[in-house]
Amino acid sequence: YVLGVDLGTSAVKVLLVDQKGKVTAECSRDYPLYHEGPGYSEQDPDDWVRETKVALTDLVKQSGVLPDQIKGLSFSGQMHGLILLDEQMQPLRRAILWNDTRTSEECREIEERLGLKTLLDIAKNRALEGFTLPKLLWVKKHEPELFKKASVFLLPKDYVRYCLTGHIAMDLSDAAGTLLLDVAAKKWSDEIAKTFGLDPSLFPPLVESEAYIGDLNKKVAEETGLSVHMKVFAGGADNACGATGSGILSPGKTMCSIGTSGVVLSYEENDERDFNGKLHYFNHAKKNSFYSMGVTLAAGYSLGWFRKTFAAEQSFDHIIANISEVPCGSKGLLFTPYIVGERTPHADSQIRGSFLGVDATHTRWDFARSVIEGITFSLNESIKIMKESGQTITSILSIGGGAKSETWLQIQADVFNTPVVQLQNEQGPGLGAAMLAAVGCGWFDSLEACADAFIETEKTLEPIQENVERYEELFALYQQVYPQSQAIS
Ligand code: XUL
Repeated sequence: YVLGVDLGTSAVKVLLVDQKGKVTAECSRDYPLYHEGPGYSEQDPDDWVRETKVALTDLVKQSGVLPDQIKGLSFSGQMHGLILLDEQMQPLRRAILWNDTRTSEECREIEERLGLKTLLDIAKNRALEGFTLPKLLWVKKHEPELFKKASVFLLPKDYVRYCLTGHIAMDLSDAAGTLLLDVAAKKWSDEIAKTFGLDPSLFPPLVESEAYIGDLNKKVAEETGLSVHMKVFAGGADNACGATGSGILSPGKTMCSIGTSGVVLSYEENDERDFNGKLHYFNHAKKNSFYSMGVTLAAGYSLGWFRKTFAAEQSFDHIIANISEVPCGSKGLLFTPYIVGERTPHADSQIRGSFLGVDATHTRWDFARSVIEGITFSLNESIKIMKESGQTITSILSIGGGAKSETWLQIQADVFNTPVVQLQNEQGPGLGAAMLAAVGCGWFDSLEACADAFIETEKTLEPIQENVERYEELFALYQQVYPQSQAIS
């Protein structure tokens, strides 16, 4: 067996996976988020460590598997969050997370001082509030005494891995989200570090996602019931692991993941495609490969907001069952899901959403369908950029909450005008993490071979021509709403 640890924003989820890729046990533990200032979003790194250990302990007990049978463990982690450690390797403050938006000023400063072109040449990404460099600069400016005490910075899962093994490391797929990595050269950028006065000793050693980091330390083995001989591997960023766990490991593969936020992600063989910063471009968890990615900030989050505000907390299943009765196009209602700002293609944390075309005869289910269509239009903006830059997209693998309903899968196929594929027993980033451990343990020669053994597709939904045409018209209108919304946001 191997273990996949998915360190998310609301919970850590641990999967026990056998040599055929079957998840034989799983366990999840929550931890709090702290919002103690405008746009602030923080977590306590020691909550992650404690809850990960509890989840592992419970999993070992509940599975009945002997500790020696569990050979390896690897991670998937929420990206971008900043953890600063002192000389004793203790966190100096709470982690500042990917969804914290306090750093708009630092983002402007980064693009101005470095120049957008240089930033895109080296780091391949624009400066966005969520990324790590703006957070480092924020702490340096606002908490200078604390910053002076920092000996190294880490990303969320790197800190948990350190507590499990005693070794400090960061993998390339996560490092790519810091804005400090030379993405093509796969090393820390001296130029970016120098421009912002960051001491290179702050940067942890870089490794590949498959890298063996060390065995589980004795104390954690005793606490959890796992073996001291269990190997721990580096792991990757949650999006890289989500892609790995869905088999997005070769050219032409694209996925759409709808969770709290929504992601469209395409495999990239090299770092050459130019999106001019409109999409993220990160190192993949598979060696020497990359992926491009667009993000809808409020995907499932928009539906959750709608449910809480207008649908009396009825279940998602109930809402989805009712929207299947509403015709394509929601009887003229159009929604833009910018309720917490938008990343792709606008990179605008201030913009806000809208409903257009409200009629006295509209019911709450018409509104619900328009929310789902609006989320899907936003994801289509990323697909459009990919297609325009020469990416061939012949089918899209759909995962996450949006893949659980046939109605929403059909809406995706119709809006994307592309066949949409659903996976059997989809497990998300945790399975990608387990695959990195399986390859690290030598069960397979490559992640692709592991994917062939572990991943099966369930069914494909083809676009329906009549709906495609209706959605093309609506999408053209949808794209006109953003510039108009800027004035009122
Ligand atoms: C990616 C991003 C999110 C986090 C969520 O750029 O900010 O997908 O990784 O955990």
